[in-house]
Amino acid sequence: MNDSVREVNIGLLGCGTIGSGVFHLLRKNAAELTEAAGRPLSLAHILVKELEEPRPFLVDRTRMTTNAREALNDPEIDLYIEVMGGLEPARSYALEVLGRGKSLVTSNKELVAHHGRELMEAAAATGATVRFEAAVGGGVPLIRPMEESLGGDVIQKVMGIVNGTTNYVLWRMSSEGGTYSEALTEAKKLGYAEADPTADVSGNDAASKLAILCSIAFKAGYTSEQVYREGIQKVRPEDIENARELGYAVKLLAVAGRADGGVYARVHPTMIPLEHPLASISGNFNSIFVIGESVGDLMFYGQGAGSLPTATAILGDVVNVVRNLGRPPVSKRSYWSRPGELIPMDDVKTRFYTVLKVVDRPGVLAQIAGIFGENEVSLESVVQKGIGDSAQIVLITHEVSEKNFRAAREGLQRLEVVQEIPSVIRVEEGA
Ligand code: HSE
Repeated sequence: MNDSVREVNIGLLGCGTIGSGVFHLLRKNAAELTEAAGRPLSLAHILVKELEEPRPFLVDRTRMTTNAREALNDPEIDLYIEVMGGLEPARSYALEVLGRGKSLVTSNKELVAHHGRELMEAAAATGATVRFEAAVGGGVPLIRPMEESLGGDVIQKVMGIVNGTTNYVLWRMSSEGGTYSEALTEAKKLGYAEADPTADVSGNDAASKLAILCSIAFKAGYTSEQVYREGIQKVRPEDIENARELGYAVKLLAVAGRADGGVYARVHPTMIPLEHPLASISGNFNSIFVIGESVGDLMFYGQGAGSLPTATAILGDVVNVVRNLGRPPVSKRSYWSRPGELIPMDDVKTRFYTVLKVVDRPGVLAQIAGIFGENEVSLESVVQKGIGDSAQIVLITHEVSEKNFRAAREGLQRLEVVQEIPSVIRVEEGA
């Protein structure tokens, strides 16, 4: 048979929530996929840990194997899909198949964020391709639009909601009231948060995704450890209420951009103006706002997790790989080639919202203003809310470096009139 119309044989490594969605769509949308890819797609092996395990979609048992060698050593396989998650054995399997010149489509954000450079180098050495659209934003097309559609522009900034769990929690606190713990319990009940949501609420999941976005947007391949992150655990209902009064919504944002000849990358709870399109992203949705030098503002929106949304991103990558089989690949080595220029967090400049609990007596504001002045922190707004013998002062600063703000905060903590600083949240204007 002419090789250009021969079936493409795929090895599926892993078959849980995402893998069974891939299987389901390969069957259900076979005609659409054949047309898009130019050749029929056939699943030759499905490597699983357990033959029997709960899966959202039925999977053909005859293709399943628990023997990794059977799936990895078949010379007839043209490309692999890795949806096992975690670092090992996913990394070893990925390097093995790339070493043999087989292309790889993966949804594994930890793998790409930690070992992106190693994967791209292994692929470049044998002429294979690695694609990872599903690793960031689930079903939201983001990686290919940024690398191909925006290939003629210079991306200045990416700012987004890349974790559905935390968006659900903050959105629910804002729409229904209640505490962080109450909203998280509800998220677990609805299946939006995992039984152990630590990676999500701590910002670690978003940091891995931002590291990957930096490799595409800025060709600055950081590992996820290099990305500054703060979780949402300390966000209080009062902060969400204060933010609303001041004209902001609180979101866990992943923000990266070019500044002073380098790139900054950070994940933290953020106050964003209510009129900014990211402020209205509800429930467990993801959305990424991209600013290109020439194109201006762009926004992507959709389901960042779930079996079928994530499976569509994987199959889009498969279509792309199949269309290019037999052509010289475009090396993505450069994506991870400039890791050295990350701007230290100390030098990053943002605005800050903070709340000070202070004793309510004459001269207190003057002392506070003195500390801010000494540390070159300029204040944009100050609102005092009295509560009994003490008062709360809600402040927003002008843009200031992390270093200077931290020094001011330490100075305030030393003041006898400051009882507590219960909240500090960065403020982003969006441009
Ligand atoms: N746990 C992630 C989220 C989805 O809540 O968005 C997988 O990346």
